[in-house]
Amino acid sequence: MSDDPILSARGLSLSFGAVRALDGVSLDLWPGEVLAIVGESGSGKSTLLRVMAGEARPDAGAVTYRDTLGASMEVHGMGEPALRRLARTEWGFVRQDAREGLRMGVSAGGNVGERLMATGARHYGSIREEAARWLERVEISPSRIDDRPGTFSGGMRQRLQIARTLVTRPRLVFMDEPTGGLDVSVQARLLDLIRGLVSDLGIAVALVTHDIAAARLLAHRLVVMREGRIVEEGLTDRVLDDPRHPYTQLLVSSVLAA
Ligand SMILES: Nc1ncnc2c1ncn2[C@@H]1O[C@H](COP(=O)(O)OP(=O)(O)OP(=O)(O)O)[C@@H](O)[C@H]1O
Ligand SMILES: [Mg+2]
Repeated sequence: MSDDPILSARGLSLSFGAVRALDGVSLDLWPGEVLAIVGESGSGKSTLLRVMAGEARPDAGAVTYRDTLGASMEVHGMGEPALRRLARTEWGFVRQDAREGLRMGVSAGGNVGERLMATGARHYGSIREEAARWLERVEISPSRIDDRPGTFSGGMRQRLQIARTLVTRPRLVFMDEPTGGLDVSVQARLLDLIRGLVSDLGIAVALVTHDIAAARLLAHRLVVMREGRIVEEGLTDRVLDDPRHPYTQLLVSSVLAA
């Protein structure tokens, strides 16, 4: 891992009316690191992810991204076109509901190929070949390449979304509950797949999950959120095996008891 964080958040606050969704959140994400953001429902996890990815503007604070060339940029100061360009090249976003991350009217191959074309690929034959390779990589039969995602199971759709996101080899991927809403057996297989791909490709991941087991499996480091604040952070095993904040202790024990 290099010396500089790929993404730094400083003092992020964001309120919705009386709700302080984020209340002075600061964190760093390092190149190639998987950082899990855990906490109960409503603690501000998704809001934090959306602010870090430039999809929501904080009331206070800043997010700095360091690009491939080492240049620093303020995510909320860079303007829509530049942000959109980043989002389709160096970044990726995996949504809990795959339908939000896919184009449902386009074939599976088209969903993967479209991202490649957005980064400059032009040759139809090689785009289709690469799309087929990625379908295999996420355990979808390439014979389904011309089928639309609407004909896929929930787990397949999520794997397709992952192929669409990773085909351009982003350096930084935001994931919001990537296994949420899926069958437990499907979740386990998906987590394994994500773990393999993320470590093969050396991607930095900000992973929002309320699934402690998923965090344990995937994340190097963990931050625990409560009411818009980070109450504890550290290496995953340390936080889960020796939680220091009472809230983390509760969170970990309630999972063990469940
Ligand atoms: N667009 C919005 N408008 C109004 N309130 C919002 C909005 N987005 C989030 N909130 C509120 O901010 C708080 C944090 O929401 P957020 O979605 O970040 O929580 P979360 O930790 O992702 O929860 P979950 O685990 O249920 O997804 C909640 O009280 C939520 O109702
Ligand atoms: Mg959420």
